[in-house]
Amino acid sequence: MKNTTQSDNRQKNFFYLEGFKSELTIEAPGRINLIGEHIDYNGGHVLPAAIDKKIKLYFRKNNSETCTIYSKNYDTSFSFSLQEVKPSEEEWQNYILGVIHFIEELKPNSVNGFDCVIESMLPMGSGLSSSAALECGMATGINELFNVNLSEEEIITLSRDAEHTYVGTKCGIMDQFSVVRGVQNHLILLNCQNLNYELVKSDFEPYQLVLLNSNVSHNLASSEYNTRRQECEDALKEVNKKYPQYKYLVDVPEDIITDYQEILPKKTFNRALYVIQENKRTLMAANALEDELFDLFGDLLYKSHEGLTNMYEVSCKELDFMVDYSKKFDYVLGSRMMGGGFGGCTINLVHQDYVSSYIEEISEAYKNEFNIELSPIEVNISNGVSKIKG
Ligand code: GLA
Repeated sequence: MKNTTQSDNRQKNFFYLEGFKSELTIEAPGRINLIGEHIDYNGGHVLPAAIDKKIKLYFRKNNSETCTIYSKNYDTSFSFSLQEVKPSEEEWQNYILGVIHFIEELKPNSVNGFDCVIESMLPMGSGLSSSAALECGMATGINELFNVNLSEEEIITLSRDAEHTYVGTKCGIMDQFSVVRGVQNHLILLNCQNLNYELVKSDFEPYQLVLLNSNVSHNLASSEYNTRRQECEDALKEVNKKYPQYKYLVDVPEDIITDYQEILPKKTFNRALYVIQENKRTLMAANALEDELFDLFGDLLYKSHEGLTNMYEVSCKELDFMVDYSKKFDYVLGSRMMGGGFGGCTINLVHQDYVSSYIEEISEAYKNEFNIELSPIEVNISNGVSKIKG
């Protein structure tokens, strides 16, 4: 059967209005990342957490060879035969198709026909990783529904593989890991080389995390993402000619990479230097947090943003404006863009007594500058993907 997209009333009634009785409900969270941006695919350390903004997925078996998926947010559905799982023209469908492809590759003939309704409370394109939530939610749901026996690690890596192959973004492992392994009130200090991790209490009292959605998402995100990854690979390849011992870019000492300033193209050199410095910042930030050195922690956020803007070049004028504007306020200890970049959110560490006035002032200034509304997003740090029914 061909993949079909329909948004007619018949589909809507089938899934929604007439009452869709699910036998299993899964909640998959989005994620934030405090620091350690664009270094997961370079073997670096990152400091993410799952949040209480989630995607809900409702499943039921349908005793056929066909799967039908309805997205409540897009008010559209598509069906496909399990005999013919292949990439679609519609990007959102590929997150699902890719996951099924890789489950079938790992555990042949384990998936049977099912219907699924997806309802997202996660703003798309805001850097909160709705894509990883969708992939890992789908994989967890199928795993439960058909007793596939996938481990958490398999769910994490097959979801990442789905994004590489079906969607075409060569992402790292941070998002999928946080979505699956998130722990309430904790940040995850994750070593992306070996997936070892430590939990760090996310206690910022009297400060608070504030997310501000710029409400812009520039198209560059996916293509530039893959270009950055390639530039990092190019830098490591050059260094490896003389120093084959470094398996990951973050392992190259800073004084060695500075010797490459004249050898590497300028942009490639800047990318590499940023990556090496950001990894150090992440480790320092985790220590600062444990020692309650919030000023230092905030300063590292500002430095991270500087690197992302000037050296890694994944920011945009809207995000830069928000971060620069925040520097005016002593009660904002740190601010930076979060996630892949080119739009989405900033993450800010703000004294709890000034959160409302900060939001008010920065929203007004942003509106004056770009004629766009800022959306504050309130988040709490929550557990990873979970079954809430079934
Ligand atoms: C996206 C990717 C992650 C990570 C971040 C940037 O969210 O999916 O793997 O690279 O960008 O830190």
